[in-house]
Amino acid sequence: MSEHADSEKTAPDLECRALTKTFADFTAVDNIDFAVPKGSFFSILGPSGCGKTTLLRMLAGFEQATHGDIFIKGKRVNDIAPNRRPVNMVFQHLALFPTMTVAENIGYGLRRRKTSKPEIERKVDEVLARVGLSGSGPKQISQLSGGQKQRIAIARCLVLNPDVLLLDEPLGALDLKLREQMKVELKHLQQEFGTTFVYITHDQSEALVMSDQVAVMNNGRFEQLGTPQALYYSPATTFVARFVGENNHREGRITDINGDTVTVQSDSGESFRATGKNLRIGDAADVFVRPEAISIAFPDKVPASVDNGFDVAVKEILFDGSRSQLVVGNPSAQSVFSVQLPQTETFRHVRPGDRLFVHWQAGVSRCLLHSNPLSGRRQQ
Ligand SMILES: Nc1ncnc2c1ncn2[C@@H]1O[C@H](COP(=O)(O)OP(=O)(O)OP(=O)(O)O)[C@@H](O)[C@H]1O
Ligand SMILES: [Mg+2]
Repeated sequence: MSEHADSEKTAPDLECRALTKTFADFTAVDNIDFAVPKGSFFSILGPSGCGKTTLLRMLAGFEQATHGDIFIKGKRVNDIAPNRRPVNMVFQHLALFPTMTVAENIGYGLRRRKTSKPEIERKVDEVLARVGLSGSGPKQISQLSGGQKQRIAIARCLVLNPDVLLLDEPLGALDLKLREQMKVELKHLQQEFGTTFVYITHDQSEALVMSDQVAVMNNGRFEQLGTPQALYYSPATTFVARFVGENNHREGRITDINGDTVTVQSDSGESFRATGKNLRIGDAADVFVRPEAISIAFPDKVPASVDNGFDVAVKEILFDGSRSQLVVGNPSAQSVFSVQLPQTETFRHVRPGDRLFVHWQAGVSRCLLHSNPLSGRRQQ
């Protein structure tokens, strides 16, 4: 076996090294390294303008990298034209041909590859069955719902059997309900086909639900790359803690350190105990606690020993079934906490103005060195 064939077997499906894109004096993608293992669902999550599409366009070959290398299955593809790369891209505004039928749309790429007619028919039928749309080959695109169009757009790429499928916010154009449904469907499709997906989105829930690995992107860089659980429970930076999931957040200074437990005096005048590493007394810090990590007690049933505990008053009840929340105010600091409201009989009758006690242990609260996630956009 040749050396190349050997490395093709063991190499990740996609690997980027020091990948960089500058437009004049502006760095849109800044020295990014990552590898995507075969058959996995990899998401790049970040706010508008952080460089997601630019990164994806480099992978697809529509944009030349200023610096760095792209490998697909161990083979460097920087100088390979887009139509010769073993990747396909699904766009946000899907580019289905409105005058062609569903079958013609799906077969388009195969026709360009000069695949034989019977083979095209067989493959189109097979992929239609796999995306759950058997029999809709003769339909016009205008006869499909938004979700069906999306599945056809994906089927049209999957039928070409790419090594990597690149998806640029493919659910962005759909309404909320359909997006919720499609994110589960997309995950199932990826599992069914076993194709490596690189998916970009600014929607953290999409990234968390679907992905094996998520890279959180900010200002052209990856701030953290990990499993959805790692990003959620162990955010490495303030930006990740604020962008992934909901968090109560205060800024302050470290006043005490005991192992991994730190005490933070917040600018709002509250004292918190939280978990943090590599911090020093006097450091400016951000402290976070998630709404579901906060426990609620009635004032006559306050637990004896808590790391963090505040007498609060209910300001607002945001009823949303199992995702209901309370907004409670801490009058001594003029601050508020969002707290998940357990849907138990005990708390069902809580009303605005009610006095409660909220509490949590240091272990569920995270303290990170303070940073302003919006500052410091690098210019070349
Ligand atoms: N051809 C270009 N010339 C100059 N600047 C560009 C070019 N393409 C992108 N940019 C800039 O690079 C930055 C990243 O753009 P990009 O489209 O990659 O963001 P994005 O993360 O995909 O955002 P969105 O979520 O809004 O789609 C933006 O500030 C954008 O203005
Ligand atoms: Mg984009």
